[in-house]
Amino acid sequence: MALSIVILAAGQGTRMRSAVPKVLHPLAGKSLLEHVIDAAAALGAGQIQVVYGHGGEQVRRQLAARPAEHPVTWVEQAQQWGTGHALAQALPGIADTDRVLVLYGDVPLIGADTLRRLLDAAAGGQFGLLTAELADPSGYGRILRESDGRVTGIVEQKDARPEQLAIREINTGFMAADAAALKRWVARLGNDNAQGEYYLTDVIAQAAAEGIAINTVAPAELFEIMGVNNRAQLAELERDYQCQQAQRLMHAGVTLRDPARFDLRGRVEHGQDVSIDVNVILEGEITLGDRVSIGPGCVIRNAAIGDDTIIQAHCVIEDAIIGRNARIGPFARIRPETQLANDVRIGNFVEIKKSDIGAGSKVNHLSYIGDTTIGARVNVGAGTITCNYDGANKHRTVIEDDVFIGSDTQLVAPVTVGAGATLGAGTTLTRNAPAGALTLSRSKQETRSDWKRPVKKK
Ligand code: UD1
Ligand code: CA
Repeated sequence: MALSIVILAAGQGTRMRSAVPKVLHPLAGKSLLEHVIDAAAALGAGQIQVVYGHGGEQVRRQLAARPAEHPVTWVEQAQQWGTGHALAQALPGIADTDRVLVLYGDVPLIGADTLRRLLDAAAGGQFGLLTAELADPSGYGRILRESDGRVTGIVEQKDARPEQLAIREINTGFMAADAAALKRWVARLGNDNAQGEYYLTDVIAQAAAEGIAINTVAPAELFEIMGVNNRAQLAELERDYQCQQAQRLMHAGVTLRDPARFDLRGRVEHGQDVSIDVNVILEGEITLGDRVSIGPGCVIRNAAIGDDTIIQAHCVIEDAIIGRNARIGPFARIRPETQLANDVRIGNFVEIKKSDIGAGSKVNHLSYIGDTTIGARVNVGAGTITCNYDGANKHRTVIEDDVFIGSDTQLVAPVTVGAGATLGAGTTLTRNAPAGALTLSRSKQETRSDWKRPVKKK
C-alpha cells in the first residue's frame, strides 16, 4: 500500500514574534519543516504534501533552495479553519488506495521509528493514533476511552468537561489511516465547537462508531511529540536534539569533554578516539580522522581533518581540507578553499584564505596568507602578509619548496619565490625572488651619535 504523507504547517506561529514563518526557524542548523520532511522521506513515502498558509511563499522559496532528495507538493490553506480543514486541502491529491500519515511542520523531532510503529498500528484498515501520558496535559486534546479501554474519541481542552480535563492521556496529533476512510470522515466534519473550527480529531469518533479499531502508540521519547510555539520551546528542543546527538557520538567512541556543551548542526563522520573539548560547534558536513583532537571554543564548518591532527583552542575553520598530523591554532582562522597538507603548522593569529600549503610547512605567528600556493617544508616568519588585493583584483602568490621567509615580509602579488630561496626580514617583495638565493629589500640602518633626546620645556 502506497504511503502518502501530509505535513500540516499552515498555522500562524504568532508567539514566535518573528518576521520569519515559524516552520523556517532553525533547529540544529536546519529548519523545523526540513526536519519533518526528512523524517517523512526516511519512511519512503510515495508522496509528501505540505499544507501551508501564513508566510507560505517564503517557506516555499527557502525549501526550493534545498537539495530535493524528496520533492514535496505544496497545498495552500488560505484560511486557517482548523486541522480537519487543513487535511481536507490535501486529501483530493491522494489516491483512495493510499495509506495517509499526518505530521506537523512545527513538531520537528518526531522519530522515524515511532512513525513506523504508528503505521504498523494502521495496518489492515485500522486507525493508528499517537498518544502520550503527560503529568500536565493542559492545552492538549484528551483521549476518551470506554471502560474496556477502547478509544471512542478525542475532546479538545476548550470543549472538555471537568472530569475529561482530568484525563492525562493526550492527543499528539500524529495519526495514520487509509485514505478512502479518511476522505469519508473528513467530509463529514462540522465546526460546531468552542473554537468554531473543523477539528481533525473528530474523525476518531467517526472511525470508532464504524467499529474500526483505534490503536494507540506511544512515542519512544517525549520530545518527539513536542511542538514549537515560542522561542523557549525551540531552545528546549534544540537541547534535546543536541543531547541525543552527543549521546550517539559518545556511544560511537567519540570523547566529548562535556556533552552539554557540544553542538552539531549538520553531520559528522569520524574515526577512532576523536576527542572534542567544550563549546565546540560543528556545522555542515564534517569528517574527522582517527585521533583528531579539537580544543575548546572551535567553530568548524564543512571540513575534513586528517588523522592525528590537533586543532587547538578557539579556531574558526570553514570549507577546508586539513591533512594528517597537522597542528592548528590556538586562535587561527582557516577560510574557504584552503587545503593544508600533512604535518602543517598554523599558529596563533594566522588567517589562511584560498590557499594550498604543502607538507611540513609552518606559518606560526600573526600572518595573512591569501590566494597562495606554498610548497613543502616552507617556513613563513611572524607577521608575513601576502598582499593579494590591489583594490580591484586578487592576485596569486607562489612560494616554492624549502623557502624561508623572514619576519614582517610583504609579498606583493602576483609574485613567485623560487625553491630554496630566503627572504630577509622586513622585505617588501614586488618582483620574483630567484631560487636558492637571499633576496631582501631593506632601508639602510644608521646611527646618529650627535642626536639628543628632546627634553620638556620648563
Ligand atoms: C491540536 C489537536 C489537539 C492536540 C494538539 C497537539 C486538533 C483539533 N487538536 O490542537 O488534540 O492535542 O494539536 O499539539 O487537531 N494547522 C493548520 N491549519 C489550521 C490549523 C492548524 O495547518 O487551520 C496546523 C498548525 O500549523 C499546527 C497543527 O496544525 O502545526 C496543530 O495546530 P494547533 O493550532 O497547534 O492545534 P491545537 O489547537 O494545539
Ligand atoms: Ca498546538
